[in-house]
Amino acid sequence: MTDPQLALTERVQQALATAFGAEYSDADPLIRPSQFADYQANVAMSLSKRLRRAPREVAQEIAAHLGDFPGTVEVSGPGFLNLTLSDEWIAARAAEVLRDPRGGVTPSGPPQIIVIDYSAPNAAKEMHVGHLRTTIVGDALARVHEHLGNRVIRQNHLGDWGTPFGMLIEHLLDIGEEAAVAQLEAGEGNAYYQTARAKFDTDPEFNRRARARVVTLQAEDPKTMRLWQIFMDATVRYFNKVYTQLGVTLTNDDIAGESMYNSMLAQVCDELQERGIAVVSDGALCVFPPGYTGREDQPLPFMIRKSDGGYGYATTDLATIRYRVQDLKADRILYVIGTTQALHMSMLFDSARMAGWLPEHVRAEHVQIGSVLGGDGKMFKTRSGKSIKLLDLLQEAETRAADVIRDSEYDDSERELIAHAVGMGAVKYADLSVSHDSEYVFDFDRMLALTGNTGPYLQYAQARIRSIFRKGGVDPAEADGPIVIGHPAERALALRLLGFGAVVAEVAENSAPHKLAAYLFDTASAFTAFFENCPVLRDDVDPAVRVSRLALCALTLRVLSTGLDLLGVPVPERM
Ligand code: ARG
Repeated sequence: MTDPQLALTERVQQALATAFGAEYSDADPLIRPSQFADYQANVAMSLSKRLRRAPREVAQEIAAHLGDFPGTVEVSGPGFLNLTLSDEWIAARAAEVLRDPRGGVTPSGPPQIIVIDYSAPNAAKEMHVGHLRTTIVGDALARVHEHLGNRVIRQNHLGDWGTPFGMLIEHLLDIGEEAAVAQLEAGEGNAYYQTARAKFDTDPEFNRRARARVVTLQAEDPKTMRLWQIFMDATVRYFNKVYTQLGVTLTNDDIAGESMYNSMLAQVCDELQERGIAVVSDGALCVFPPGYTGREDQPLPFMIRKSDGGYGYATTDLATIRYRVQDLKADRILYVIGTTQALHMSMLFDSARMAGWLPEHVRAEHVQIGSVLGGDGKMFKTRSGKSIKLLDLLQEAETRAADVIRDSEYDDSERELIAHAVGMGAVKYADLSVSHDSEYVFDFDRMLALTGNTGPYLQYAQARIRSIFRKGGVDPAEADGPIVIGHPAERALALRLLGFGAVVAEVAENSAPHKLAAYLFDTASAFTAFFENCPVLRDDVDPAVRVSRLALCALTLRVLSTGLDLLGVPVPERM
């Protein structure tokens, strides 16, 4: 156990058991960071009632049973236990983590099957910054779960089906396959859609053809499916350009779009109707999960078949749950989707539980993604108010990033690589460093700043450590200590480094990548304080101290680069 908070929790629990009996061993010791010590335990206050003793007395009793505590224990105030770890304990744990190939990250249990639904742009519309954020957050969660030894099944629930595809296919026939493919591959899906839509609204002949096409599409008629495939392939090639540019792990194998569920929808409805879970209301087939009311306290329907017989988003999503539980054998399903869909997701989960398709032991969660805003506080588009192509936006990030790299020693190709890493790192980190459900303002200047909680700051922090090793002619892999703590800045850094494993576990448990971002930022700041106070390579540094400090540098480098990698933020060698 290297995480200090967890190690202390265990220690205090043992003391509780020996002091008050085994039934107290699983009480939460309430270990929290403290102003007056490394940590404080607040358990004496919470147990005093149950034990019918004064909290201070309880605290003293616990302290007396802490045995060979590796540090100092103090009872203070009404009954706080102030816990300060010894430098030796911290140094020994840090050395342990440094030798551990997993860097203190340990799986919390047997591997689980985690299905993650993320990205999911719509083929009939533009892929926008909102999809960028679900893509980036979902990808970070996928990386973290894989690092913890879980089996991750990525599901890119593309919007690739439904009535708009009638007119999209007819428009493809009108302009010719080649022209359509070129336009879609270039990311002009929005313009394509708008032209088709305009014809649909004004040209009765086109309108009739488009409607007829929906019918052959629903029936999966081979000729229509061939055209649909051409449209989708070109669209997906554009999505893949965005994924490649971002360094996102999604591939074509992860595509499980709405179309995939087409053949299951009738059965989903029939089964729910037969079992009385769905009922016909005003001609539409609906589930009424309890607890949802609309206008005038009317029960709110979760509509799975419209009165015209058509299926919708809700029907498809019920099919996703059934498929993911029954076929993919998910232990946990994460739907990384905008906050605006909170009601849909909540009714979906409740309906699926009613149907028995989401058994108790399977966790299903809506990882809510907050909106990305422009400087005007409205949904982010562009300065001119028109929507911007994602690839152009990412290109702009790279161009601006090139100015952040001040050093002139790099040749053009190296510069370009670094600018790419910094630009993508800045954009991705901006999405990841704030809690996933809060809104934030898309601001190039802020995300590219070299100070503050930004991607470039952290990329620079790890690149700077690499340059220490280059200058010293030492391979970080060989800087393995021993570690000796001599300066408060060394102590603070080492203590922080011990918390990495616990943070990664917390990110997985709570789907909260911003916790990892905050931890990395604090770690980089602790490193800066260390580096300002504790020279490493200077001639007058004692060789043993130098060895120890190099080991701390190596551990920091590993924590920062592993952490950034788990977030999907590129880790440039130099900056
Ligand atoms: N395509 C949808 C949208 O852009 C997101 C789909 C999310 N996944 C899902 N299973 N509903 O809003």
